Amino acid sequence: MEVRPIGDNKVFLDMDPGIDDALALTVALKRMNVLGITTVAGNVSVDHTFQNASHVLRHEGQHVPVIAGAKEPLFYPLLTAEHIHGSAGLGDYTWDTNDVPVPPDDAWVWLFEKLRQQLQPCHLIATGPLTNIALLLLAFPTVLNHLASITCMAGGMPGAKLDKAAEFNVFVDPHAAEAVFRYGDHLQMVGINVTHRALLPIADLPKLKRYGRVGGLLFTLLSYYGNKSRGEGGDPNSFPVDDVVAVAAVDAPELFTWKTMPLTVVLEGRLRGTVILSPFDTNRPEVKVASDIDVPDFLDWFWQSFEL
Ligand code: BDR
Ligand code: CA
Repeated sequence: MEVRPIGDNKVFLDMDPGIDDALALTVALKRMNVLGITTVAGNVSVDHTFQNASHVLRHEGQHVPVIAGAKEPLFYPLLTAEHIHGSAGLGDYTWDTNDVPVPPDDAWVWLFEKLRQQLQPCHLIATGPLTNIALLLLAFPTVLNHLASITCMAGGMPGAKLDKAAEFNVFVDPHAAEAVFRYGDHLQMVGINVTHRALLPIADLPKLKRYGRVGGLLFTLLSYYGNKSRGEGGDPNSFPVDDVVAVAAVDAPELFTWKTMPLTVVLEGRLRGTVILSPFDTNRPEVKVASDIDVPDFLDWFWQSFEL
C-alpha cells in the first residue's frame, strides 16, 4: 500500500479517552483536519475524559478546542472501564491536572454551533458512548444538514460471529445508540466484528518509540492497555485497538467491506446493548455497517500514520 497524503477530511471527534481513544485522537490528528473534540463519560468520568483529551493534545503540541459533554448516560447510571483503562483513563500514566479546568457540560450545543459555521458538511467520529451524539440529534435535528457522516465505534454487526453480545459503548448507553440509529443519517458503524480482528501484536509496540514524544506516550499507554486487553479477539499475543479503526473507516474506507441495514438496540435485560436488525421501522436510516476489514492493509495504514 502506498503512503496516503494527509487527508483534507474535516472532522470533529466525540470520545471518552481512554487509551484507545487517545490513540485514535493521535492518528486522527496525523491523518485529518480535526476541528474540535467533545468528550463524554464512558471509560472514566467526563472530568477525566476531558482532562485526558486536553493532555494528549498538549503533549503533542496541538491546539484544538476540547469541550466536556454528558456526565452520564441518558437513563442508566454510568458504568466505567477502569479495569482496562486505569483509574483516570490513561493507565498508570499521570501528570499534574490542576491547571485544566472542566467547562460546563454543553458539548452538543457547542458542536452544533461549530458545525453550522463550516462552509461544507464535516465528518463526526464517535468512539465513546453515544450520549452526546444522541443529545445533538435530539436537540438540533437540522444538524444533519451539516454532517457528511457520523461514524461510530459501536456494537457488532447483527448476524456476525461476535466474541461478546454487547459492545461497551452501546451497553453503557443503549438509549443513546437507539436514538442515533433512529434519528441519524449518513451513519457508519464500526463494530467489534471488525475491530476484534484488526489486532496489534504486543511485540510490535516498541516500534512506537521511533516516533518521538508522540510515540513515547503511546508506547507507555498501549503497553498498559495491551497487557490488560491481550487475548480479546482470540490471540493471546495481540490486542484490539478498537477506536482507531473508526478513524480508518473515514480516512480509508476502502480497507473495509460494507453492508447497509437499519439497526435497533436491545435496551434492557440479558441482551442489553446488543445491536440487532430493525425489522419493523422502515423509516429508519440505512446504516453502513463494516462487515469485513483487510487486516494487513489496516496495519500498514496504522503504522504509516506515524510517518506522516
Ligand atoms: C470500546 O470500549 C471502550 O473501552 C473503548 O475505548 C472502545 O471505545 C470498545 O468496545
Ligand atoms: Ca472509547
